[in-house]
Amino acid sequence: MCGIFGYVGKQNASKVLIHWLEKLEYRGYDSAWFVVWNTSWLQLVKSVGKVSYLTAKSENTLVADETFSYWIAHTRWATHGWVTENNCHPHYSENEKIYLVHNGIIENYKELKDSLVAKWYKFYSETDSEVVAKLIEDSWEWNLLKTVEKVLPTLEWAYAFLFISKENPDEIIGVKYWSPLVFWYSNDKKDLYFSSDTQALAWVVENIIFLDDWELVHIKSSDYTIKSEWKLVSKSAEKIDVASLKAEKWDFKHFMLKEIFEQPKVLNDVFRWRIDFENLKLNKAGSFEELDKFEFDKVVFVACGTSYHAWWLGTYWLQDLAGMDSSVEVASEYEYKNIRVEAKTLYVFISQSGETADSIEPLKYLKSKWAHTFWIVNVVGSTISRLTDSWMFTRAGTEVWVASTKAFTAQICTILILTLYFWEKNWNLWRQKYRQIIQELQKIPGIIDELLKESEEIRKVAQEIKDYKQFFFLWRHLELAVAYESSLKFKEISYLNSQALPSWELKHGSLALVDKDFPSVIFMPSDFLYEKNLSSIQEVKARNGKILAVSNKKIDSATWNVIIPETIEETYPFITAIAGQLIAYHTADLLWRDIDKPRNLAKSVTVK
Ligand code: AGP
Repeated sequence: MCGIFGYVGKQNASKVLIHWLEKLEYRGYDSAWFVVWNTSWLQLVKSVGKVSYLTAKSENTLVADETFSYWIAHTRWATHGWVTENNCHPHYSENEKIYLVHNGIIENYKELKDSLVAKWYKFYSETDSEVVAKLIEDSWEWNLLKTVEKVLPTLEWAYAFLFISKENPDEIIGVKYWSPLVFWYSNDKKDLYFSSDTQALAWVVENIIFLDDWELVHIKSSDYTIKSEWKLVSKSAEKIDVASLKAEKWDFKHFMLKEIFEQPKVLNDVFRWRIDFENLKLNKAGSFEELDKFEFDKVVFVACGTSYHAWWLGTYWLQDLAGMDSSVEVASEYEYKNIRVEAKTLYVFISQSGETADSIEPLKYLKSKWAHTFWIVNVVGSTISRLTDSWMFTRAGTEVWVASTKAFTAQICTILILTLYFWEKNWNLWRQKYRQIIQELQKIPGIIDELLKESEEIRKVAQEIKDYKQFFFLWRHLELAVAYESSLKFKEISYLNSQALPSWELKHGSLALVDKDFPSVIFMPSDFLYEKNLSSIQEVKARNGKILAVSNKKIDSATWNVIIPETIEETYPFITAIAGQLIAYHTADLLWRDIDKPRNLAKSVTVK
């Protein structure tokens, strides 16, 4: 998703800006640009490709001086129109007096554009954002604020905008509807900032004003006012945990590898204050107190992408352990279903970013129907975490890397804790098993450390498989989430095609694809289905298929083995998932892929 940034102040903005864009780049990075207005002159710099290209371009353009200057900037993830300089923001009016940046999608931009074309406006790009710049020009009320307030209600769907205009040289307007936008100013009001997310701002400020839908910030000189639905309001700042937001790569080659190696610490953070390992039980504080107020007999999980792989595990754990009915809904499809809200159902949403539009929509619908909603979120202060009755943070810290790793492991751990909560409440509690799972959970960070020591061994296997073009990722029972998640990681960064499939489904058709050039990765810890997985290997080998077995046992009939440390059946997904992440990482790295900026992807998808 795009990243937008605004700055008003006297600092030498080129450094500030390039620093921001680098911090925002993980949101979307097929082109970047900025425009600066300094009362007497306006400078526009843009480039297709990474922020580093822009840095080079901007070095000789910008001069530091003692006057206030007004900057708006953008990194782009294309929604409308190709990755070209023309479609690369900034978008400006035909008279080149109004400039804007935009994160979001204007769904009715076509009819708005047609009405402007009928008035002889010309368009240089295919984007929805340019239409808004021309709309402001066409509706000009000799005042930027008045005109913006007049135009906004005509726009349908999601946006965060920053506007500047030559007619009002000492003003910037920031406005939010659906897409995230935060605002803050330094105590001496010498520096005022806008940003699409808190993480990029954590490097300078400690307090943030989170804007809600229909809120607008109007900066004039270095003073600002906030409006909510056109009425002036005052909003207080919130303290942010800077340390957890500052993400460094340390000496790791990629953010992905750094975040994979962070997982033992992340799990200990997820456990903190939630599990009493001494007495082998849960600490029933915080989120559970809210849940304790109600009786639930069903859990419905709703999410997208990696997050929905995580809740698949949730349904198995809830049904197998807690004996609780649960089902899953793909968030992006959910709102098109005739949802019948049930009073004794808890609707659990899962999101790393807390900004995924496909998930927010059904949430708002369920809330409008007084449904019980619960969120498992990673980003503190995100739109979603401020929308629900009760939630649990996954405490994975800032996840910079586009494709999720540590947040997935933190999500499945949080879901297992939620399962233990419901299991405790249910009559069928099998206390001995419950205590065994808590005992084993305490060991998991150490077991993951053991696995991470095998990273170079896994790289040797990746060397063997990197030249194949298609793969099956096979699973049974709890390994379902791991196979789907590993297949997604594999695709996201290696650009090799892979498909996750239940092992026994092979013989119902997909076996036709198997041959010597179509390997299968099978996740098969020594659980109660181990023998069945061995027969699936025979099925594949009988068709010259090659097998990469991920197991705590060496499988002689497999072509390649990734041996993982032992644990118990219910907690193997923590280990096999990380083995899947390392297989994907090393394969992509050996294929020289740009791992930290996988093509066509963005970290949080804030448009539908
Ligand atoms: C995962 O690697 C991707 N980044 C993507 O599938 C992601 O999981 C999905 O967009 C949901 O995002 P969320 O967890 O932030 O809601």
